[in-house]
Amino acid sequence: MQADVVIDVAGVGVTRSGGYLVRGIDWRVAQDERWVVLGPNGAGKSTLLNLAAARMHPTTGTVDVLGERLGLVDVNELRTRIGLSTAALAERIAGDERVRDVVVTAAYGVLGRWRETYEAMDERRAGGLLEQLGVAGLADRDYGTLSEGERKRVQIARALMTDPELLLLDEPAAGLDLGGREELVARLAELARDPDAPTLVLVTHHVEEIPPGFTHALLLREGAIVAQGPLDDTVTAENLSKTFGLPLRVDRAGDRFTARSA
Ligand SMILES: Nc1ncnc2c1ncn2[C@@H]1O[C@H](COP(=O)(O)OP(=O)(O)OP(=O)(O)O)[C@@H](O)[C@H]1O
Ligand SMILES: [Mg+2]
Repeated sequence: MQADVVIDVAGVGVTRSGGYLVRGIDWRVAQDERWVVLGPNGAGKSTLLNLAAARMHPTTGTVDVLGERLGLVDVNELRTRIGLSTAALAERIAGDERVRDVVVTAAYGVLGRWRETYEAMDERRAGGLLEQLGVAGLADRDYGTLSEGERKRVQIARALMTDPELLLLDEPAAGLDLGGREELVARLAELARDPDAPTLVLVTHHVEEIPPGFTHALLLREGAIVAQGPLDDTVTAENLSKTFGLPLRVDRAGDRFTARSA
């Protein structure tokens, strides 16, 4: 496998209760790429993300993440190299936890028994990430008192805490109002442009949420790939119409997309 391939999914199917969650998936993500995964409810987007996050194993085919093959590697070690933000993980954050601690505790698993030595450094890094996500002022609030948009940004700061080589975001803009979405898209665009940022994969239902600077798209419908490749060639009216099962018109204004029924 090439050194710069971060995710290599080959001939993958996942079955549960006799049915396919995803099937026939071939997907490669290189280190400097930023991917968006689009598709309707139930298309298999989170399943694919969980494979890439080493949270799930394929039933058939192979998944290599950061040069390690799932099934042959200690997934706990591999997971420390991957930042993941999902609604399911966010639900486990206690409402009375300080925002700063929500971020800093992501480092515990990695640093383990050396944690005490690193405490001051962890605090500084967590503070810096909250700053980068535009929520530094909330560091001493209880997580439970934050708005949905503020929570989403704290969740991303948490996912970045371990300095992951790969960052996976499952519907980071879900539940945000227009202003919240636009702010988040702007933060993600900054991240996408940062050459030191991890490889990025973002799952969404909406082309409006594709941050500028993202390079590739994968479109899923009923567990199968409809199209994948460079963003401009892939996010087309024809492909999106097939993906969502209705005739769509796709417009592009500058580096943003919009879609509506044709
Ligand atoms: N353990 C399971 N057993 C049976 N079916 C499952 C299981 N887990 C997921 N599925 C089904 O697999 C399909 C794909 O699920 P997945 O969560 O990947 O979809 P998704 O594209 O992320 O959808 P959404 O946009 O709603 O989040 C869904 O139909 C879901 O009900
Ligand atoms: Mg999902």
